[in-house]
Amino acid sequence: MSTAAGTTGTPNPADGAAQTAGHTVGDDVLVDVRGLKVHFPIKRGAIFDRTVGYVYAVDGIDMQIRRGETYGLVGESGCGKSTFGRALLQLETPTAGSVHFDGVDVASLKGEALRRRRQDMQMVFQDPLSSLDPRQSIESLLLEGMQAHGLVRDRAAANTRLRELLTAVGLPTTALKKYPHEFSGGQRQRIGIARALSVNPKLVVADEPVSALDVSVQAQVVNLLEDLQEEFGLTYLVVAHDLAVVRHISDVVGVMYLGSLVEEADADELYAEPLHPYTKALMSAVPVPDPTVEDRREKVILSGDLPSPAAPPPGCRFHTRCPWRQETRCDTERPELRVVTGHSSAGDVRPHRVACHYAEQIADGTLKAHEVAPTGGERFYEAGTPVGVTGAFAGPASLAELT
Ligand SMILES: Nc1ncnc2c1ncn2[C@@H]1O[C@H](COP(=O)(O)OP(=O)(O)OP(=O)(O)O)[C@@H](O)[C@H]1O
Ligand code: SF4
Ligand SMILES: [Mg+2]
Repeated sequence: MSTAAGTTGTPNPADGAAQTAGHTVGDDVLVDVRGLKVHFPIKRGAIFDRTVGYVYAVDGIDMQIRRGETYGLVGESGCGKSTFGRALLQLETPTAGSVHFDGVDVASLKGEALRRRRQDMQMVFQDPLSSLDPRQSIESLLLEGMQAHGLVRDRAAANTRLRELLTAVGLPTTALKKYPHEFSGGQRQRIGIARALSVNPKLVVADEPVSALDVSVQAQVVNLLEDLQEEFGLTYLVVAHDLAVVRHISDVVGVMYLGSLVEEADADELYAEPLHPYTKALMSAVPVPDPTVEDRREKVILSGDLPSPAAPPPGCRFHTRCPWRQETRCDTERPELRVVTGHSSAGDVRPHRVACHYAEQIADGTLKAHEVAPTGGERFYEAGTPVGVTGAFAGPASLAELT
């Protein structure tokens, strides 16, 4: 069970069950996240800043990232991926929940202790140009973090380290005297990666590290990240909306929808057999190289827009778009992320967890997908008060029909 979930968070009208963890933490766990929530207040009023609601950007996530692994986090734009990554690094203050890094609760760290811990957790940003100060040379950009963390003993040692960093990311040492605008997108991302590595971190959160790059360059940067992981023993959280990118690089993949994790499994397992309807829909858009798998797998077309994270639907947050939605439970009871019976084996890095009441029945085919008329997300709640509209349920595949 989550230790801190929901204890101090803002009231969330859509809450049923919070996601649960139910796991013990071994030495191999570098990052242990329990019941993490980040709610942004929505303010109105010219004179008095009244809080009229909240954006439930991250809304109860349990996650563990093990040492040396790559955790891929995927989901549609606006589902809270970046906010989650930032909250891990304490760049965003959690509303509730906890983040333990290397066994230490990072929220308890202040001042110098937090600054020292930050050295272990670095971020690579989506847009390398806007994340690099255009007025600073590459040398100055790379030295900045090293100096801040007292890693530069003398000029000679600094020069050696700068050269090592550039070699590691595949850039010539002549790059040191240049400025960010003198490089291509791919080269700038290499500089962003070198900057993250300059302070010898343990964890690198890479937020959409290749989405701003040409497809031709994406694979090079992904391969570089993999090589560096091996060379420096890094642990990664790679955030992306592109499933293909995450598949290539990840050991474990988590799928996010409206502030929650809806599925988590070993990358191979998740791609071979997605269990959550939302993951099935995401996966349908990605071609599978194996023709046998491609022919066998179910194609799920997602209808309707992502509801606003300021007005998440009650019950299962995906019920407004789910082709398997049932009259019972789906609209009213928030499913917890749970291990699905019969879909994990002893050799798995992670047991296959899914937040769906009917995951087993969907997997074994006893529940069939049906047409869904998408319902609006904006109208569920106004300032925390239910205003109705859950939409007409019109599926021919209800559980009642099965009996
Ligand atoms: N500082 C903030 N104040 C208020 N709302 C915010 C803030 N930062 C993010 N949000 C909102 O929180 C939600 C989640 O945003 P976030 O950037 O984490 O999503 P994302 O999954 O990273 O999206 P993308 O794929 O587009 O980068 C969005 O609705 C966003 O508008
Ligand atoms: S079947 Fe119900 S619980 Fe499962 S994803 Fe669909 S709406 Fe959510
Ligand atoms: Mg983002």
